[in-house]
Amino acid sequence: MIKRVTTPAGDPAWLVTDYDLVKTLLADRRLGRGHADPDNAPKFTDAVLLGKPHQATEEEENERHAWMRRMLTPSFSARNMEALRPRVRHLVDGLLDDLVRQPQPADFHEAVSFKLPVVVICELLGVPYEDREKFRRWSEAVGTLNDPRKSQEGAAGLWAYMGELVERKKKEPGDDVITRLIEAAPPGQDETVASLSAGLLFAGHETTVAAIDRGVMLLSLNPGQWDALRADPGTAGDVVEEILRHPSPISAPSEDSGMPRYAMADIDIDGVHIPCGDLVLLGIGQANRDETRFPDPSAFVPRESNPHLSFGHGPRFCIGAPLARIELTELFTALATRFETFGPAVDVAQLTPRAERLVGGVAELPVRWTVA
Ligand code: HEM
Repeated sequence: MIKRVTTPAGDPAWLVTDYDLVKTLLADRRLGRGHADPDNAPKFTDAVLLGKPHQATEEEENERHAWMRRMLTPSFSARNMEALRPRVRHLVDGLLDDLVRQPQPADFHEAVSFKLPVVVICELLGVPYEDREKFRRWSEAVGTLNDPRKSQEGAAGLWAYMGELVERKKKEPGDDVITRLIEAAPPGQDETVASLSAGLLFAGHETTVAAIDRGVMLLSLNPGQWDALRADPGTAGDVVEEILRHPSPISAPSEDSGMPRYAMADIDIDGVHIPCGDLVLLGIGQANRDETRFPDPSAFVPRESNPHLSFGHGPRFCIGAPLARIELTELFTALATRFETFGPAVDVAQLTPRAERLVGGVAELPVRWTVA
């Protein structure tokens, strides 16, 4: 089914929500991020991210995207990421050691959910971890939906920081992704390398942080699943897939939103004519709750088959999916192994959702535990 909706920016868009259609359209090259007339294009948000499109034809867009994938995929291959697993496990252990030294309740969001993905992406990219508070501020600003100026200032800060880092790495190369990007890019592409790196730094932590917090909340609301995970921590992979599929338990899932794309040609979707330039929202969240694909979709239950679309699908499938899966699986395995009880110190319903943020999530997650 396809219907007309109004975006958070107040512009008209088409929304698709059935699983099969969303999946097919995620892989459809005629839907992209470019637009012939960006200044007059309908927008999903007023934020920098998923806001105004860039100027591009379908051909330019596909060329640019293919180049971006060629630059990034080697560094984030499943094989390279698997080699990182022992390091991720070691980091998880260290963060949980630090957590249990704190008095209870302790803020899990700050101590673990934020730190794990940030340390990992910093090490991979070669970004100094000491700079985390700076780029945390900028990334948070970039992903703010209700304040376009804040979002633009955040993007400017992050881009400038990455520009300086690229300059430094040209003089002092490291064994890291940014150095490899500099080496792989044609001369004169420093700005592109900086913007790819800024995108990775942002994408590499914000979404994973939110998924970790969501997992802790979902497991505490479903104690049977926590017990099952404790009984067999080897099932953490399936639990993680369900955490990825399931919406946040503290905010009503958005029914009118989706991954924004522009029709880069006149196309027909489900018998409806979509003119070139129109905005189409691909409802990944709604598709993940499509009961023809996920029986009893509101239940939080690890599923034998869980073909959720949380990492997208097709040519834009999330480059960081193998890494995010390793971080989440190692963390939830360790939680189930080390703790007998573990969960929010307050009623989950009392936690405040960050509605103004693109990736949602919580600002704090006070937790209590008993060690196994
Ligand atoms: C739980 C964590 C994550 C979730 C839910 C997630 C989700 C997504 C989704 C839905 C897309 C597809 C966007 C589209 O179709 O336009 C995507 C793309 C992308 N993700 Fe992730 N992501 C996560 C973690 C990461 C991490 C850790 C990294 C970096 C290492 C990363 C880097 C990227 C990049 C570079 C793209 C762009 C791919 C392209 O346009 O071809 N993501 N992600």
